[in-house]
This record gives sequence, C-alpha cells and structure tokens, in this order.
Amino acid sequence: MKKVEAIIRPFKLDEVKIALVNAGIVGMNVSEVRGFGRQQGQTERYRGSEYTIEFLQKLKLELVVEDNQVEMVVEKIIAAARTGEIGDGRIFISPVSNVVRIRTGENIIEAM
Ligand SMILES: Nc1ncnc2c1ncn2[C@@H]1O[C@H](COP(=O)(O)OP(=O)(O)OP(=O)(O)O)[C@@H](O)[C@H]1O
Ligand SMILES: [Mg+2]
Repeated sequence: MKKVEAIIRPFKLDEVKIALVNAGIVGMNVSEVRGFGRQQGQTERYRGSEYTIEFLQKLKLELVVEDNQVEMVVEKIIAAARTGEIGDGRIFISPVSNVVRIRTGENIIEAM
C-alpha cells in the first residue's frame, strides 16, 4: 500500500474530492497546512523592498491506497487540482507497511 499526500489549493478541494470519490476512493483526510515551495511563497516578483518567505494556505489530502491505484489517484488529483499557475501544489508518495482497523483489530497487510 502507498500513502499519497497531495498539497493543493484550498478552492480545489471539492473538485478533487468528487473526482476521487467517483474513482472509488473510500477514505481520505484533509488538513489545513501552511507552506512554501520553490518560489518561497512569493506570489509577485517584487513585494516591497524586504525579501520575505511567506507561508501560503494550502490543504493537505492524505489517502492510503493499493499500489495499483496510485497512478490513477495521481492522475485524478492532477486533472482536478491543476490551474497551470505556479503554486498548484505537489504530490508525495510513500510506502505504508500496515493498516489496522481499530474496531476489529484486523491487520490489512499488503505485499509491498
Ligand atoms: N519540498 C517540499 N516538501 C514539503 N512540502 C512542500 C515541498 N515543496 C512544496 N511543498 C508544499 O507544496 C505547496 C505548493 O508547492 P508549489 O506548488 O509551490 O511547488 P513548486 O515545486 O514550487 O511548484 P510551482 O513551480 O508550480 O510553484 C507548498 O506551499 C508547500 O506546502
Ligand atoms: Mg511554487
């Protein structure tokens, strides 16, 4: 299994959520984050005379999915979240070694 973490623009949440639910995704988290990327939070070339690094409001989606769903999930997120302007966000993918359902205690172990 893999964890897909997507940093997106807040106004894109509904579009991304609908695309993922329609694609069969059955669980996800969203949290508010503040961050910066390569432009260090600059949205204009000059912002006064002082150089500042700004944290911008973004949303972080987290989904744990089967390995064979990762490509589709990434494509859906890009299609829904992209504007083509700088600051559209990033997607991070990492391995998940196990998932436990608390109600039943069952391990949902997948081959890595
Ligand atoms: N290396 C990183 N590690 C963790 N979070 C990051 C990293 N880079 C970007 N982010 C997060 O993603 C958000 C959006 O990044 P952003 O879209 O600006 O990436 P970028 O690589 O600078 O691409 P672009 O050139 O399109 O702006 C940042 O505000 C931050 O929350
Ligand atoms: Mg950027």
